Amino acid sequence: MRVDQGQVFKLEDYRPSAFLIPETKLTFRLHPKHTLVQAELHVQTRTGAPSTSKLVLDGDELTLRSIAINGAPLAPDAYTASPDQLVIHALPNAASFTLTIETEVAPEDNKALSGLYRSGGNYTTQCEAEGFRRITYFLDRPDVLSVYTVRLEADRAEAPLLLSNGNPVESGPLADGRHFAIWHDPFPKPSYLFALVAGDLGSIKDSFQSASGRQVELGIYVEHGKEERALYAMDALKRSMRWDEEVFGLEYDLDVFNIVAVSDFNMGAMENKGLNIFNDKYVLADEATATDADYAGIEAVIAHEYFHNWTGNRITCRDWFQLCLKEGLTVFRDHEFSADQRSRPVKRIAEVRALRAHQFPEDQGPLAHPVRPRRYREINNFYTSTVYEKGSEVVRMIRTILGPRDFRRGMDLYFQRHDGEAATIEDFLKAFEDASGRDLQQFALWYHQAGTPTVTVATRHDPDKGELTLHLEQALAPTPSESRKRLMHIPLEFGLVAPDGSEMAVQAKHEGVEGNIIHLRRRHQTIRFTGVDQRPVLSINRGFSAPVALSLEQTAEDRMFLARFDGDLFARWQALTSLYTQALIAGYRAVLGQSAPSFEPALLTLAGDLACDEGLQPAYRALALTLPGEGDIAREIGQNIDPDAILSARTGLVSAVTQANAARFTPLYHALAETGGFSPDAASAGRRALRNALLDYVCSEPGQGTLAAKQYQDATNMTERSAALAVLAHRHNGTPEALAALADFEARYRAEPLVIDKWFQIQATVPGAATVSTVRALMDYSGFSIDNPNRVRSLVGTFASANQTAFHAADGSGYALFCDAVLAVEQRNPQVAARIATAFRSWRSLEPVRREKARQALVAISQVPNLSSDLRDIVERTLG
Ligand code: ARG
Ligand code: ZN
Repeated sequence: MRVDQGQVFKLEDYRPSAFLIPETKLTFRLHPKHTLVQAELHVQTRTGAPSTSKLVLDGDELTLRSIAINGAPLAPDAYTASPDQLVIHALPNAASFTLTIETEVAPEDNKALSGLYRSGGNYTTQCEAEGFRRITYFLDRPDVLSVYTVRLEADRAEAPLLLSNGNPVESGPLADGRHFAIWHDPFPKPSYLFALVAGDLGSIKDSFQSASGRQVELGIYVEHGKEERALYAMDALKRSMRWDEEVFGLEYDLDVFNIVAVSDFNMGAMENKGLNIFNDKYVLADEATATDADYAGIEAVIAHEYFHNWTGNRITCRDWFQLCLKEGLTVFRDHEFSADQRSRPVKRIAEVRALRAHQFPEDQGPLAHPVRPRRYREINNFYTSTVYEKGSEVVRMIRTILGPRDFRRGMDLYFQRHDGEAATIEDFLKAFEDASGRDLQQFALWYHQAGTPTVTVATRHDPDKGELTLHLEQALAPTPSESRKRLMHIPLEFGLVAPDGSEMAVQAKHEGVEGNIIHLRRRHQTIRFTGVDQRPVLSINRGFSAPVALSLEQTAEDRMFLARFDGDLFARWQALTSLYTQALIAGYRAVLGQSAPSFEPALLTLAGDLACDEGLQPAYRALALTLPGEGDIAREIGQNIDPDAILSARTGLVSAVTQANAARFTPLYHALAETGGFSPDAASAGRRALRNALLDYVCSEPGQGTLAAKQYQDATNMTERSAALAVLAHRHNGTPEALAALADFEARYRAEPLVIDKWFQIQATVPGAATVSTVRALMDYSGFSIDNPNRVRSLVGTFASANQTAFHAADGSGYALFCDAVLAVEQRNPQVAARIATAFRSWRSLEPVRREKARQALVAISQVPNLSSDLRDIVERTLG
């Protein structure tokens, strides 16, 4: 474990490396406890003249076995080796030389899952961000690109399969039952993209012919017996490859493309060149074990990692401050892919819900940072939803501002200029400026300033003059270490909806309006539309064109009107969601004042009408029934949060919607019953989503669990079964039906860890403080493992991030459990511990009693000696 030393890395300190490593030859003699790694590095000075300075290579928990330059062993006083650094003082008087280093590592003891480790008996690697230095000493920074040749040697019985980056060159037998394979990757790459896999795995194979005729062999490797479950991932891969050709003109560039699924993995997946390594949850699916959401997740992550081949690999990042250059852009690309494969408005709503649930609280709390940060203590803590999801929103805004044609031209120019390079956000923006002739200076602040801007909008209609006036105002609250903010360039897509529901032709004489986009660039902006005789309703931030918090002065009647008639389906959903939010906040205030929440009948009818509207896609209708989450409500309230009162208000609204619509919901639920075989396509998934949303309502009242119990028993796929289980466990907690279903689920799936994760999640999100002891007990269940990130995230992570009333239990018991768990995880895997510890990020918005308990919990963690840099960084920033 890397103990925190208080070191801070700063963007302004970036200097190009004085040394380059154009060529790297690696030989691995694989062994669970004693793997020998020989690295032959062709080192060059940047200047082409002999160097006068020393060579400093990064390491992390390494043991040096030998070191030589140009074949001659180095004298002991010529270098200094420690586990985390190798310094060579005496260099040859030459512009280039060969440095040969041997290190020894123990894959089996590597529980941090960074570097070379074992998972399910297989050898695997994870090198982003700084894992390569746990394999050998290197210039482990993304701007040092090298051509790799890798030789793997292993016991043939233990590891019949030997994979690395690039194309296979040669393989064959060795003495003592061992064998070898050689791989060569012709594309220079940074060390974080290195990978190897060695082990005994099953596979499925396919092939893809690229647009220009290259034949690519595709392989997906999974645990033996699970091959069939990789077929959907393979299908998604081929669709991704075609899509990138059609939409961005980008082709694959090697003869093989391999994907390996492993069960112990810190993140979602990794885009290693030609050898993507995945958390198995983003590869394995069949109808019996995966939900529709799992299928959608697989499609998105397969696409994401594949798309990195160009945005990340062919063009990589100059330094880790530029992480969003590859991540935000690649998320944008995978979002667009999923929108094209599925339903665009439904996908957009899902993206915005996720952004608000994860990125907004980050941006509005102590962990706020710019999309391109300027400093970090631990880079692994910056794989955040700000870098990824807000980073994607920023790319989307560039397309909104430029329009699709100039956006594509900018992307083309970016590839043309920077292919084979390690680039920066400035390079990226310059390509769009040059391709479009637009000035993106002010826009660039989206990369540099943290925080969610607030846009306040008011309208006034003057029927006599036939004028509509819009007043817009932007504000951006201070964030950590950024007290003064500059004005942003905010593109707001809008429309005016006439009383008959039609779209009004817009005429505005104003420099800030271009077609259907308002460019808000000043603090205040007033826009006058003429020829507007009838009073329209403003529909603004359509499609969520800008990731802002909108404060729109609009009556409930106008929102109801938009929820029924807006031609933009996102804006229609938004109008409904705003109505729900207002109703829930009023309900919350009522609960705090000891009275029962009450809700407008018109809203309840509207919810039912949308759910039953045959003119809308079922997936969209399911979203219309999805109320803001407890976290969303808390964020809108902002301060002195009492999670129990939020839960009561929300339960009250569910119950009111049910009572108003039960006569329609029950028959609709039955009409949607699955007929014919299972298909994971978006339309079928949408019908299941609507049916499950209806089930949650019709079974919401005490004593009304029968239908859920029946769906649980009759289910023919995991989407139906797990949804029914959640309804029973959440709405009928402790009843014989709920207990029976939970026990049955465990008995059916105890051999399926990814399904047991669902069982953990469902139990970890049962509302109420009693869940604290359930989670404690489940940590002793035989299927739980503190070493496995998926198990830890499903049980402990879900408890803290998605169960407001239990994690924030007023007596502090939720925090106590969580701190114990985080510290236990940290001993093995600091990255995962730090990630789940971000659950504390909104502690300051709690009511005073909980706030003080949360603060004490954070202080207690911070006082533990020898914390990892990962956890110390999160805890100290969270305390502020
Ligand atoms: N580049 C990977 C992805 O987005 C994420 C890997 C991050 N891993 C880490 N340990 N920080 O697809
Ligand atoms: Zn990525």
